Amino acid sequence: SEKMNVETDIITLTRYILSEQKSKAPQASGELSLLLNSLQFAFKFIAHNIRRAELINLIGINGSANSSGDVQKKLDVIGDEIFINAMKSSNNVKVLVSEEQEDLIVFEGGGRYAVCTDPIDGSSNIDAGVSVGTIFGIYRLKDDSQGSIKDVLRKGTEMVAAGYTMYGASAHLMLTVGGSVNGFTLDNQLGEFILTQPDLRIPDKRNIYSVNEGNSYYWPDNIKQYIDDLKKPQEEFGGKPYSARYIGSMVADIHRTILYGGIFSYPADKKSKNGKLRILYECFPMAMLIEKAGGAAVNDKGERILEITPKSIHDRSGIWLGSKGEVEKFLTYIK
Ligand code: AHG
Ligand code: MN
Ligand code: MN
Ligand code: MN
Repeated sequence: SEKMNVETDIITLTRYILSEQKSKAPQASGELSLLLNSLQFAFKFIAHNIRRAELINLIGINGSANSSGDVQKKLDVIGDEIFINAMKSSNNVKVLVSEEQEDLIVFEGGGRYAVCTDPIDGSSNIDAGVSVGTIFGIYRLKDDSQGSIKDVLRKGTEMVAAGYTMYGASAHLMLTVGGSVNGFTLDNQLGEFILTQPDLRIPDKRNIYSVNEGNSYYWPDNIKQYIDDLKKPQEEFGGKPYSARYIGSMVADIHRTILYGGIFSYPADKKSKNGKLRILYECFPMAMLIEKAGGAAVNDKGERILEITPKSIHDRSGIWLGSKGEVEKFLTYIK
């Protein structure tokens, strides 16, 4: 009979975390794996609501604005509420920073983690059916802390885990718990995230650049020069110039960058001196993922993103991240 191709030994997210935990930190209390289980429930529930958005009139604006000044879409608010409830009921999270919450949330109970999240990233695109996502970064509370803003105004290097879930054709989770980057795909029938891309490495070079050139009037001259030079035939790419790819949802643009290589940027400019992307729940998690996949992430001065210490929870930074070779090429224009 022909060979059945039934996979009988799938690795779910839960199994992956337990094995990772056992191998890396045998004495670990399993708290992080419990936290990640609460996180994955939030992703499944948000994915479920996004799929039904048009059916249950979840498209469109909520008629409010958040502390970053963004117009809040209905799904921004729903995603935020789902996330807050999932973190509160986890009993593992003590502190929560959300793009959609002006202030830090400190939960009752004894959780030992602080979570920073962008519950719906790319929401300006959501009515057009473009992939959006949830971004998260996790700190372990400082030993002497009962949960305060001091647990999150820290360098990105202190994050113990980070990732995003992109809600595209399927829900795709990219995660690092301090080691390699692994991709998981949600099997809707099983209701499980299945390991589909183990130990992802970003290509070292790729002739793709991803930036909103609609801001180029406000860029400093050295950035204009760098982007202009990418448009010339490139000897190292067989005489071809770079391709421009910009979706406008950071999660979708970073997902492509990890898989294909290239460089993504939201530069600071004369109009926004710290750029647009928020450090704690956009720059740090993406910088951690890209570095763990073998890439690099710097600010407009060429300083490592993860070495920044934010002063307040919605602080922004200019950011350049992607293939190591491409970031190194960028650095030659600003040094
Ligand atoms: P959010 O939807 O969470 O507010 O984030 C939007 C961000 C990010 O997803 C994207 O890279 C950037 O905004 C796009 O900004 P522009 O439309 O100004 O290019
Ligand atoms: Mn927003
Ligand atoms: Mn965002
Ligand atoms: Mn958002």
